[in-house]
Amino acid sequence: MNFMDVITLRLIFFVWICTFLYIVTTSIFKRIQENKHNTESWGQAMGLNALPGPRKYPIIGNAFQLPVPKYIMKTLFDWCRKYGPCFRITVFGIECVVISKPSMAQELEWIFEAEKGRCQTISKLLGRYALQSIVDSVVSIPDCYNDTDVDNFLSNFKRYTEITSYRILHPWLAVRFIWRFHPLSTQLNSAIAGLNKFAQTIIHMHIRKTNDKKNEVEQVENRSIISQMLNVNSSFKEIQTEVTTMLFAHESNTLSLLYFLLMLALHPEHQERCREEVDALFNEAQDHPDKVITFDDMSRLKYLERCLLESLRLLPPVFLFGRKLESPPRLENDVTLPIGTNVYVSPLVMHQDANSFPNPGIFNPDRFLPEECKKRHQYAYLPFSGGPRICLGMKSAILSIKILVAKILHSFEIFSEEKMENLRFQFTLTMSPEKEPTFVFIPRKNQQLNMNI
Ligand code: HEM
Repeated sequence: MNFMDVITLRLIFFVWICTFLYIVTTSIFKRIQENKHNTESWGQAMGLNALPGPRKYPIIGNAFQLPVPKYIMKTLFDWCRKYGPCFRITVFGIECVVISKPSMAQELEWIFEAEKGRCQTISKLLGRYALQSIVDSVVSIPDCYNDTDVDNFLSNFKRYTEITSYRILHPWLAVRFIWRFHPLSTQLNSAIAGLNKFAQTIIHMHIRKTNDKKNEVEQVENRSIISQMLNVNSSFKEIQTEVTTMLFAHESNTLSLLYFLLMLALHPEHQERCREEVDALFNEAQDHPDKVITFDDMSRLKYLERCLLESLRLLPPVFLFGRKLESPPRLENDVTLPIGTNVYVSPLVMHQDANSFPNPGIFNPDRFLPEECKKRHQYAYLPFSGGPRICLGMKSAILSIKILVAKILHSFEIFSEEKMENLRFQFTLTMSPEKEPTFVFIPRKNQQLNMNI
């Protein structure tokens, strides 16, 4: 062993010792801080230790029991089955509670306030559609981006979700000191820079065009989200944050579209019923060439909407969402959750509860008839979250999905060879398919769509 080898070995040893000490001291410090906050709330009510959960180990807690991305949905179900609707996991001293019971989710309501074709895959096309429909509603200006901008955004986004989900499932990478030297950190920074650049480009373009007094689209611009934020003097940074959040939502839209088309392909009887409804609307409109299909017309597609809601029940893209507690709620099982706990609610698990949805594995759109909805707990169905922090884009997402699917149903018959029981999913911040499903679109005879929606 030469001199350089000895120095390198010592350096590596030194870095490991520093990392170890850093982890130990931060987790001890965190514990002390949390205990300080929690002493009052641990009076009559039971604390986190009363909750069931997988066995935890000193310092690391359950860090090494976290599954790889493709097993996370299965593990979530297994843990919910084994430990019940409210269980605890600990990762390096960070306490997390997963909740899958509607009434408990409701008790946490205030948390939502805190913060013949050819067989083909279609995710990329759906991704472009979803992103463009969001950008159009955010800026309301045509031609402020081109196809390359959109494709660059989508590939940066894919990289961002891959790396971030990897980092979440390897919690020691949350330690800044370790992450800074990890090869993925440079890639993540470059993906984030690309995403920010797209958001900045459309905001700048919007500001430039609004400042141009001669611009004809001024009327429309005033209704756009950026115009409204500019009107209340929001800073550029604030606008950028909001725009980026909305652009990120294209992923939930894309997956909802993908899963909805898949459900229709796998359930031809429901596909046909939706098509009859769509044909009735579109044929009526085609008999009157000047007619524009309006928002109200789209609300007549009731069966189509029920099928979409049922598809979001079976496959909710946002399968888990959470918050860090800022005050200690007491749950119906008499457990008080301490401040600082990360609490998660899982629509995926709750949507499979036979008490709320009898025969939960069956695709049955009539669960969403008004009289059936009344029978369930208000928080039993949460694909868009609930309470004051419910998804801001819910109505626009439902509308844009209905428009695209109605157009497809009017022009094509949809088939797929996939089998429901063979579908596998992975964690990419949202719940995405492990392998992309394929479709066959057969054009329908004499059905050419030529109208404005
Ligand atoms: C079918 C598609 C969509 C689904 C399933 C979905 C689902 C959700 C869920 C579950 C949340 C709550 C997340 C949390 O609390 O951590 C959320 C929040 C949000 N969504 Fe969506 N979303 C969709 C489409 C959209 C679209 C198209 C937009 C924007 C144009 C959008 C904008 C937002 C915003 C801004 C929030 C944060 C609201 C807040 O914190 O007050 N979403 N969404």
